[in-house]
Amino acid sequence: VKVKNKHYRTVWMEKGVVKLINQTLIPHKFEIKTSANYQETAKAIKDMIVRGAPAIGAAAAYGIVQAVNAANSSNFGEYIKQAEICLKNTRPTAKDLFTAIDYVMEVIKDETSLEKIKSIVFNRAEEYANKSADACKKIGEYGAELIKDGDIIETHCNAGWLACVDWGTALSPIYHAKQQGKQIFVYVDETRPRCQGSNLTAWELAEEGVPHRVIPDNAGAYYMSKGVSMMMVGADRIAANGDVANKIGTYEKAIVAKEFGIPFYVAAPMSTFDLSCLSGKDIPIEERSEDEVAYVHGWSDNGNFSRVRIMPVKSRACNPSFDVTPSKYIAGIITEKGIIKPDNESILNLFAVNNVAEFEGVKK
Ligand code: MRU
Repeated sequence: VKVKNKHYRTVWMEKGVVKLINQTLIPHKFEIKTSANYQETAKAIKDMIVRGAPAIGAAAAYGIVQAVNAANSSNFGEYIKQAEICLKNTRPTAKDLFTAIDYVMEVIKDETSLEKIKSIVFNRAEEYANKSADACKKIGEYGAELIKDGDIIETHCNAGWLACVDWGTALSPIYHAKQQGKQIFVYVDETRPRCQGSNLTAWELAEEGVPHRVIPDNAGAYYMSKGVSMMMVGADRIAANGDVANKIGTYEKAIVAKEFGIPFYVAAPMSTFDLSCLSGKDIPIEERSEDEVAYVHGWSDNGNFSRVRIMPVKSRACNPSFDVTPSKYIAGIITEKGIIKPDNESILNLFAVNNVAEFEGVKK
């Protein structure tokens, strides 16, 4: 993301320290959070200082580097295992978290010399982050082909620069279309309870000069009935049959879009697919604290932070962080290798495997 003419990645590593754009402060403040060790990096993921599937993945990859740097030859195996478990336990739904950690662990597994591991592990994590950023750029290039001059696009949650190492998934086609000179307009679902839409997507679009309006979550059908060209969202995990887990509320939008004949696109890199989940039913759904529903927070115009309760103290809340949109509602999945149909055959083709078992084999 470009802030005051300087380009930032959402997450990066410098001299053993993980640096993260602190997403809990946006749009109020742009601040870089530093994390000195893997425990702090895990906490930053859990507390959503960094969030969005690809960004979480890259942060965790760097977290493994921090664990390797802190380990010594007497405790190495056990220490790294503990770090892997700690990082994997942060957010259960985002597949990229696991893809990224496994990618870095791959070079550690078969190497016995700690000195050698210390010398290669950073490059491995950096390679993962670069690949992830490249995939998002490609998604933007393919996805922009779907966007015509004058299109109105609705998006849910934040699947932009901030959700990824760079570019974004669902917003990458929008940024590419804008760079191609297309006039576009974006409806941004506010995305309660964490408000990734109003806090983060709106901020990004404003920084990028993309015309947009934030709409309440329950206004989707109203605006779709008046004319939306397409919906574009990201994904946290995609099952082998094309069912997609994404931010809570995505499912509802997909049903409404179908009612109005509006194409519903999902943009995601291959690191988000999980062929070991045969359908969306196998995807673990993260349940977060009910306080996220019970309280709202924000900043007054003079910069004072406050947090207020918006439901009775005696009432309890439910707070599932994601839902699963069945593949029948999805027009296409935009990946770094092109736009595919959300079905088993197309997904197996994408990974160049004949069946799911083969994919698992390739992974190991
Ligand atoms: O809970 P979050 O903010 O991490 O959820 C993020 C989403 O649901 C995004 O749509 C998804 O990770 C795709 S991001 C490119």
